[in-house]
Amino acid sequence: MENFKVLVYCFLLFHFIPTFNTLETILPGHSIKGNETLISTNGTFEAGFFNFDNSNNQYFGIWYKEISPRTVVWIANRDSAVENSSGVLNLTDKGTLVIVDSQGVMKWSSNTSTTAAKPILQLLENGNLVVKNETNPDSILWQSFDFPGDTLLPGMRIRSSLVNGDYKGLVSWRDSQDPSTGLYSYHIDTNGFPQVVTTKGNTLFVRVGSWNGNSLSGATSVDLYKSFNITFVITEKEVSYGYELLDNSTVSWYKINSLGQITRFSLSDDRKTWQIFFVGPADRCDNYGFCGANSKCDPDKSPVCECLDGFIPKSKEKWSSQNWTDGCVRRVKLDCDDNNSDGFLNQVGMKLPDTSKSWFNKSINLEECERFCLRNCSCTGYANLDIRDGGSGCLIWFNDILDVKKLSNGGQDFYMRVAASELDHNTGLNKKKLAGILVGCIMFIVIMIILGIVIHRVRRKKLEKSGMNQVVSLKNQIDKKENEDIDIPIYDLSTIVNATNNFSIDNKLGQGGFGPVYKGKLENGQDIAVKRLSNTSEQGPKEFINEVKLIANLQHRNLVKLLGCCIQNHEKLLIYEFMINRSLDYFIFDQTRKSLLHWTRRFQIIRGIARGLVYLHEDSRLRIIHRDLKTSNILLDENMNPKISDFGLARTLWGDEAKGETRRVVGTHGYISPEYATRGFFSVKSDVFSFGVIILETISGKKNREYSGYHDLDLLGHAWRMWCEKTPLELIDKPLTDSIVVAEPEILRCVQIGLLCVQERADDRPTMSAAILMLNGEKTLPEPKEPAFYPHQSGSSSGTAVLHSKNEVSITLLQAR
Ligand SMILES: *[C@@H]1O[C@H](CO)[C@@H](O)[C@H](O)[C@H]1NC(C)=O
Ligand SMILES: *[C@@H]1O[C@H](CO)[C@@H](O)[C@H](O)[C@H]1NC(C)=O
Ligand SMILES: *[C@@H]1O[C@H](CO)[C@@H](O)[C@H](O)[C@H]1NC(C)=O
Ligand SMILES: *[C@@H]1O[C@H](CO)[C@@H](O)[C@H](O)[C@H]1NC(C)=O
Ligand SMILES: *[C@@H]1O[C@H](CO)[C@@H](O)[C@H](O)[C@H]1NC(C)=O
Ligand SMILES: *[C@@H]1O[C@H](CO)[C@@H](O)[C@H](O)[C@H]1NC(C)=O
Ligand SMILES: *[C@@H]1O[C@H](CO)[C@@H](O)[C@H](O)[C@H]1NC(C)=O
Ligand SMILES: *[C@@H]1O[C@H](CO)[C@@H](O)[C@H](O)[C@H]1NC(C)=O
Ligand SMILES: *[C@@H]1O[C@H](CO)[C@@H](O)[C@H](O)[C@H]1NC(C)=O
Ligand SMILES: *[C@@H]1O[C@H](CO)[C@@H](O)[C@H](O)[C@H]1NC(C)=O
Ligand SMILES: *[C@@H]1O[C@H](CO)[C@@H](O)[C@H](O)[C@H]1NC(C)=O
Ligand SMILES: *[C@@H]1O[C@H](CO)[C@@H](O)[C@H](O)[C@H]1NC(C)=O
Repeated sequence: MENFKVLVYCFLLFHFIPTFNTLETILPGHSIKGNETLISTNGTFEAGFFNFDNSNNQYFGIWYKEISPRTVVWIANRDSAVENSSGVLNLTDKGTLVIVDSQGVMKWSSNTSTTAAKPILQLLENGNLVVKNETNPDSILWQSFDFPGDTLLPGMRIRSSLVNGDYKGLVSWRDSQDPSTGLYSYHIDTNGFPQVVTTKGNTLFVRVGSWNGNSLSGATSVDLYKSFNITFVITEKEVSYGYELLDNSTVSWYKINSLGQITRFSLSDDRKTWQIFFVGPADRCDNYGFCGANSKCDPDKSPVCECLDGFIPKSKEKWSSQNWTDGCVRRVKLDCDDNNSDGFLNQVGMKLPDTSKSWFNKSINLEECERFCLRNCSCTGYANLDIRDGGSGCLIWFNDILDVKKLSNGGQDFYMRVAASELDHNTGLNKKKLAGILVGCIMFIVIMIILGIVIHRVRRKKLEKSGMNQVVSLKNQIDKKENEDIDIPIYDLSTIVNATNNFSIDNKLGQGGFGPVYKGKLENGQDIAVKRLSNTSEQGPKEFINEVKLIANLQHRNLVKLLGCCIQNHEKLLIYEFMINRSLDYFIFDQTRKSLLHWTRRFQIIRGIARGLVYLHEDSRLRIIHRDLKTSNILLDENMNPKISDFGLARTLWGDEAKGETRRVVGTHGYISPEYATRGFFSVKSDVFSFGVIILETISGKKNREYSGYHDLDLLGHAWRMWCEKTPLELIDKPLTDSIVVAEPEILRCVQIGLLCVQERADDRPTMSAAILMLNGEKTLPEPKEPAFYPHQSGSSSGTAVLHSKNEVSITLLQAR
C-alpha cells in the first residue's frame, strides 16, 4: 500500500513538472522562446526571456530561480531589446547564439563561429551560460562569463589587457528598469600599477584601489570578506580580478547599480531575500580626490580632510571654508638637488594613493625602494607592493599624491618624502611625546599591579568566609541596587512541543534573524510565541540560561516580554508573550492593511519604539545594543502598542563584544548602518540609524532597500532628495494624506528626525534620548546632513580627474575653474 502511494506520487510529480517549459540543454536548431526557460543542473539559475513591468521590451537574461522578485544577473541583448514582439533564442549549427524577433530580424548574436560538430548550450550551476563542444565537454566555445554585465558572480572575472588596454568590466544599467548601457563602469585601470576603479563616463568616480596581496587597498574590512577567495592576477598579457566562495552554503555576488554604487548582496538566513553586505562608496572619502592633492581623508574626523604631514593648505581661506579643491602644498621645499638630505614620514593605515602614474618592481625590497626614491627628484613616496609575509616589492609615486584615505582598520604603511627639517619637526615632537607616554604607562601599570594585589587579597579573605566564589562573576555585571533577579521558568521541551504542535509548519509565524518563530498555546490556554534559535554557538546551557535571565530582567512596556526558555537536546528555545497584531511591517507594507494605521497611531508607534530604545540604550542596567532593529521586529499588541523583540539576542548568542567590533555582522538589508556594514563597528548609534530607517518607512509605507522608484535611489536617498527639494510631504504614505491638514508640523518633524538618524557619520546622529525630546517637540532640530549610502556625485566640491585613452599619461587633475 505504502509503495503504491509512492508510485502514484511519483507519477503525479512527473506528470506535473512542466518538462516542456524548462530545459537543461539546447541542441543546434532548437530554440528558447516565450516562457520556456533553461535551468541549471541543480536549479540555482534560470535563463530565458523576460520583460520589466510596464515595458514592451523583451530581454534574454539569467536570474536566480528561487528568489523573488527576480534578480537578473546577466542580459544578452541589453542594448538591443526585442520590441513589441516575442523573441527567440537559437543555437546555430556553428555554435552561434542568435536572438531574433518574431519577424525573424536578428537583434543580437554571440558572433562566434566554429566548426564544432556538435555544439550544445547549457546553463551551468554557477550562472555561466556556455556553448560547449558536446564531444569534448571541457572545451568551451563561448561563455557569458566572458562578457560581464552589471553583476560579478563568483567565478566570473573582470579583465584588462596589458597589450592594448582593452578592458572587460562591469557596466551599470541606465536605471533600475532599463538595462541598456549606463554611465558607470567598474574595471581595472592598467595605467601605472593596476588598480580597480569606477568611472562615470570618462571621469574617475571612485578608486577602489590597487591590490596589496590580501585585498584591494581601499577595502575597509578584510574580515567581512573571509568567506571569499579574492584573486587579483597580473600576467604579462592581462590583469584580472574575481572571487570564489569558500563556503558553498553562502550565496553572494555584487553589482554596480545605475548610480555607480558597488553593492554586495548575500542571501539572508531564510534564503528568500538579499541582504546588503556592503555599499561603496561608503562615505565621502571614497569619492576620487575628495580632499584635493597631498591630503588625506578620514571619515571618522571632522572635518574629514587634512593635509598630509609636512604639507599646508594651498589656500588657507578656502580650506577653512571646507573647499578642498586646491589641496595642499609642501611647507618646506624638498632638498633634492643640493645635499639630498630628504627623509620619509610613515603614514600608517592608509588606502594607498592613486597608482595610475606609479612605477613598480616586484623584486625590490623596501630599503632599496627608499634609495630608489631618493635618487629621483620627482619621487614623492613609496610603499610595499605586497603586504603579506612582512612585505615585499616596491611601489613608487611621483609628484602630487592623490586620493589618500585613512582606514579605521586594515590599511597600509606609506612613506612620504619630506624635507629634513620636517623630519626633525615631526620626530622631535613624537620622541618627546613618546617618552612622556612611556613613563606614564609604566607608572600606571605599577600602580595597577599593586592595587590589584591588595584588592585580590582582601576579596579572597571575604569570599573564603562566605563561600560565594562562583556567584561573584555574574553578579558583578549587575548593578548592585537592582539585584532582585526574576527567576524565569525553564520549560520542558515536551511542553513546548505539545504547545506548538511539534513545531508544525502551520504554527510558524515567521523567520527571524536568529531562527523561526512558532505560535503555541500552553495547556493553561495562554498563547505564546516560541523562538527556536538556529544558532549553533558552543555556549553551554548554564551560560545560556544566565544570559536569558539577564534579558528577562529587561522589562519595559515597549519591549516584548520574555516568559521563559527551554534548553534540551541541542534545542534552545525562547518563549515570549504572543502579540496578536503581528508586526509593524505586516501593516505598513500591505496595500489594504496600511489604511488601518492612521497618522496618530503611526506617530504613537514611532514614539513607543523610541522609548523602548532609550530603555535598552540608557536606562537598563545592561546597556543593550539591539543590532537588528527593523519593522518586522516591532511587534504590535492588541492596542497597537509597539513592542521591540529580539533585543539582547546578538549578545546572548555571541557574547558581549564590548569593544563594539565584530566579525559577525547581523542585521538586515536596508537597516544596517554604514560603519557596521563596512567595518563591523557597532554602537548605540547603529541602532539609531535603524530607528531612522523605521521612521521613514513608517511615514512612507515603503521599504528602504526595495524602494522601487526610478533612479535606483533607495528610500533614504529619495527622502533626502525630497528634503533638499523642499517637498518632504511627497514622501508620505497615501492613507496619511488626509492627516496633513491637522498634523503637518508633526509629520515634517518626523521626516527630519528620520533623516537626522540616518546621517552618514555616527557622531552626527542624535542619541535616542535626544530623539525622544525631538519627537516631543522639546528640542530644536538641526539641519540633517546627507544620509549614508547616498550616491555622492563626483566632483561635488573636489577636483575632477579625467581619464585619457590607453597609453597617454592617464590622469590629470583639472584645477577647478
Ligand atoms: C530558430 O529556430 C527555429 C526553430 O528551430 C527556426 O524555425 C528558425 O528559423 C530559427 N531562426 C534562425 C534565425 O535560425
Ligand atoms: C506558457 O505560455 C503558454 C502560452 O503562452 C501558457 O499556456 C502557459 O500556461 C505558460 N506556462 C507557464 C508555466 O507560465
Ligand atoms: C547538485 O547537487 C548534488 C546534490 O546536492 C551535488 O552532489 C552536486 O555536486 C551538485 N552539482 C553541482 C554542479 O553543484
Ligand atoms: C513598439 O510600440 C510602441 C508603441 O506601441 C512604438 O512607439 C514603437 O515604435 C514600437 N517599436 C517597434 C520596433 O515597432
Ligand atoms: C556581433 O557583430 C555585430 C557586427 O559586427 C555587432 O554589431 C554586434 O555588436 C556583435 N555582437 C556582440 C555580442 O559582440
Ligand atoms: C570538438 O571535440 C572533438 C572531439 O574532442 C574535436 O575533434 C573537435 O575538434 C572539437 N571541436 C572544436 C570546435 O573544438
Ligand atoms: C584561492 O584561489 C586560488 C586560485 O584559484 C588558489 O590557488 C588558492 O588555493 C585559493 N585559496 C583558498 C584559501 O582556497
Ligand atoms: C563547492 O562545490 C564544488 C562543486 O560543487 C566543489 O568542487 C568544491 O569542493 C566545494 N567546496 C567546498 C569548500 O565545499
Ligand atoms: C645644503 O648644503 C649647503 C652647502 O652645500 C648648506 O648651506 C645648506 O644649509 C644645506 N642644506 C641643508 C638642508 O642641509
Ligand atoms: C626590478 O629590479 C630588479 C633588481 O633591481 C632588476 O633586475 C629588474 O630589471 C627590475 N625590473 C624592472 C621591470 O624594472
Ligand atoms: C624620475 O622618474 C620619472 C618618472 O618615472 C622619470 O621620467 C625621470 O626620468 C626619472 N628621473 C631620474 C633622474 O631618474
Ligand atoms: C571651491 O573653489 C573653487 C576654486 O578653486 C571654485 O571653483 C569652487 O566653486 C569652490 N567650491 C565651492 C563649493 O565653493
